[in-house]
Amino acid sequence: MDGDAFLRCIDPQCGLEYPIDSIRVQCEKGHLLDVKYKKIPSQNLKEVFYERRNSQGNIFNESGVWRFRDLLNFCQINTEDTSECSKFLVSLDGSEGRQSKPYQMSKVAEFIGTLSDNLWLQPEGYNPSGSFKDNGMATAVTHAKMVGAKKIVCASTGNTSASAGMFAANEDIDCDVYIPAGQIAPGKLSQAYQFGAQIVEVDGNFDDALKQSLEDAQNHNGYTVNSVNPFRIEGQKTIPFRALEYLNWEEPDWIVYPGGALGNTSSCGKALMELHEWGWIKKIPRIAVINSEGASTLSDLHNGKFEEEELRWNKGNPNVELISRYYDHLDKEGLRPKTKATAIQIGRPANILKGLRALEFTNGIATTVSDSEMLDGMSIVGLNGFDCEMASGASVVGIKKLIKEEIIKKDDVVVGILTGRQKDAMLPVDYHNDPQNRFARPPKN
Ligand code: F0G
Repeated sequence: MDGDAFLRCIDPQCGLEYPIDSIRVQCEKGHLLDVKYKKIPSQNLKEVFYERRNSQGNIFNESGVWRFRDLLNFCQINTEDTSECSKFLVSLDGSEGRQSKPYQMSKVAEFIGTLSDNLWLQPEGYNPSGSFKDNGMATAVTHAKMVGAKKIVCASTGNTSASAGMFAANEDIDCDVYIPAGQIAPGKLSQAYQFGAQIVEVDGNFDDALKQSLEDAQNHNGYTVNSVNPFRIEGQKTIPFRALEYLNWEEPDWIVYPGGALGNTSSCGKALMELHEWGWIKKIPRIAVINSEGASTLSDLHNGKFEEEELRWNKGNPNVELISRYYDHLDKEGLRPKTKATAIQIGRPANILKGLRALEFTNGIATTVSDSEMLDGMSIVGLNGFDCEMASGASVVGIKKLIKEEIIKKDDVVVGILTGRQKDAMLPVDYHNDPQNRFARPPKN
């Protein structure tokens, strides 16, 4: 190890640094951490990444995450040495991120009201555990292995626990998952059981489950794999990397994500910040985060819906008291996050500050969509022959809304991320049995 990678607090006034084998998810003062690299990766790697797509049986080239290993080399290995890769990098036989790339979907483009050529949708649901989480879990569990962790721990609205359980089973380590009882899709819950994770049912919502899991992990030697873990963010950078690579590194105008705990927003922001700093991209795509109307913390705060102040990263000086007052207000009014898209039913996005940083860097925005809109978004993706879950439908209808509002221009190139695959079998059944729904095709008898 040559000391190229280390951890640094995101708060520029604080800037505390830690060695790469630290298992902290926060600095001493409670701020989130970034993985930092001292070396600037050569742009010749673009060729290397392209060549690796012809994987020649090397699982680390086959993997859509580890193909880009030079840009997330926190293990500080010789990335061309397969035996070093095998020793350090955790992979589900190269399957994480392998099938992910942007596609054009003509019916979705028509529904949205844009040109098919300008709209790209990137399904992350075809990852081995069925969501984008495998991108970040491969890297988080790599770090867990680096520090000799015996047990990984997470709170989850379902997909994180499925992914953590899968990787833990494959690496033969323990896995505890804290879930909000009765509030996660049955298909996700069954995955956690299937992979032998220890379920801990929390009487409350995801925010309560996260609080409890972080406390328990700290008190009982657990290794947290939620997106507050900076190594999760490293793997999720490969989502925009794959999109950019597919577009020949020609930057789209927008990258659009559903917003929950804001790990995706944070990782996309970090990826773009690094690529820009390294001179790999000139134009900075704008990030749009789509919250559900019933769980709209980022959108409310960013758009000045609370106390009429538009919350900003403000070059590292965000008004954190405003966030606290917003949470106090939610508690006082008994306002709990509520949406049928349980994946993003989150009131206290743990990565909010990194998310704000990402929005500031990219001149990004946040908005909301309703449950019925998300169901339409999910369903029109289905009519193009692709499968996604309700929360992912937010990307589709978020783009539609922003085009209607002329925030996204009709000739803008947009990449929307479809974050997960359908794991709530009854949602499409119920949708199609109600003839009132826009794309419903009710059964005949
Ligand atoms: N879409 C899906 C399908 C998700 O599962 C999640 C988050 C999100 C979007 C939101 O992403 O947190 O990066 O803003 N699911 C987490 C979980 C919270 O526990 O599975 P984010």
